[in-house]
Amino acid sequence: MSNKATLEVNGQKHEFPLVVGSENEVAIDIKSLRSVTGGVTTIDPGFKNTGSCESAITFLDGEKGILRYRGYSIEELAEKADFLEVAYLLIFGELPTKAQHEKFHADIKSKSVVDDDVRKIVDAFPKSAHPMGVLSSLTSALTAFNPTSVNVDSEEDMYNSVVKILGKFPVLVAWTLRKKNGLPLDYGDNNLGYVENVLKMMFKQPNEEYVQNEVIVDALDKLLILHADHEQNCSTSTVRVVGSSHAGLFASLSAGISALWGPLHGGANQAVLEMLEAIKEDGGDTKKYMAKAKDKNDPFRLMGFGHRVYKNFDPRAKIIKVAADEVLNNLGVEDPILDVAKALEQEALNDPYFVDRKLYPNVDFYSGIIYRAMGIPTDMFTVMFALGRLPGWIAQWREMRLGKEPIGRPRQVYIGETYRKFTIVENR
Ligand code: SDX
Repeated sequence: MSNKATLEVNGQKHEFPLVVGSENEVAIDIKSLRSVTGGVTTIDPGFKNTGSCESAITFLDGEKGILRYRGYSIEELAEKADFLEVAYLLIFGELPTKAQHEKFHADIKSKSVVDDDVRKIVDAFPKSAHPMGVLSSLTSALTAFNPTSVNVDSEEDMYNSVVKILGKFPVLVAWTLRKKNGLPLDYGDNNLGYVENVLKMMFKQPNEEYVQNEVIVDALDKLLILHADHEQNCSTSTVRVVGSSHAGLFASLSAGISALWGPLHGGANQAVLEMLEAIKEDGGDTKKYMAKAKDKNDPFRLMGFGHRVYKNFDPRAKIIKVAADEVLNNLGVEDPILDVAKALEQEALNDPYFVDRKLYPNVDFYSGIIYRAMGIPTDMFTVMFALGRLPGWIAQWREMRLGKEPIGRPRQVYIGETYRKFTIVENR
């Protein structure tokens, strides 16, 4: 195969090198395009055909439904690793030894106290505030209390920022939920595992001992692993672009949280549950909602279906679907919503509109059912997605900063008014 692409523009032929990745993905390197063609650029709304970077963190094959973190399959990691192991793998590139794992967790615990003044920011929010807006604000506010975490040009500064945010973020997640529930803010317990501590901080009642449920601990650990990274998705691209201006890690993460909030992205797990509830309330009439999803005049979409990259089953959805059955059975929860979800999935998998467009269930389709069984409120589902995605965002931001990538600044094609003289208001 040739290692160059040839492009003819205005009668001139230009050659551009091909970049071939370790999984044989091929990209045309167009870094010189504008200069050699006298100003010609490309346009690709939503970047459906455009790569923003070369990355060594996550590989996914949308046609084959493959997802790997640093070369390890998502299936093996979900089954055999714990969330902190996966966080270490994504951020530093290798699975930790036992000693590295213990030091990483100890360093995280040592930085997990959030400045008490942050409580005043939490208290300023109305209980009705959406948790994603609260979490994004609190994450950005961390910069004010940790100013040295802005410029992370040294590996040491970078490591300190990484363990700080991995320690403090679960506290912010818990405070976001406890504020909604009118509960006193809790600092957790450094004697616990990472996921156990998250659950205790979120759910401990002030007048009762918190009893861990191993089924829920295992399910949450697996869900966080499944959400940990997903190459250049909308929120991760946001974290990389914001960080490319040399804004600090916490500010970049805050921007990523806002991007994840959207119902077309991470907000879909909340939208799926609201959709399933509506269908159940409507007598379980899945055919009516399938028709709405296919009606171009109806803005309704089948939430939890379709994906920019996966044109096959999302491997995470397969794992979560099995886990949903297990968790509900282990908890003895009969949730009619799960039956509605399975009926809808069967309808869609046999409907030409969905089959032709290769629309399959994605990571968000079943995750909300498990979160709900855990007692997590629907509007906190995307917060749990953010908790899982945190190490991926960190890893991608670190790769971008260590790679000294240029500031992200796309071009455009201007289609507005050409030059026209100014007319003073008396003459308009
Ligand atoms: C996540 O990118 C990532 O990696 C994201 C993520 C991650 O881990 O970070 O995987 C997490 O965000 C998963 C996606 C969660 N979002 C949803 O479940 C919302 C519902 N899905 C859609 O909005 C949509 O499928 C997207 C946004 C996910 C993808 O949109 P694309 O790639 O821009 O595809 P498109 O909108 O161009 O759709 C192609 C066709 C269109 O029909 P035609 O114009 O060709 O006739 O498929 C149709 C769309 O109308 N379509 C749907 C649909 N999704 C696409 N029709 C009905 N219901 C849907 N869900």
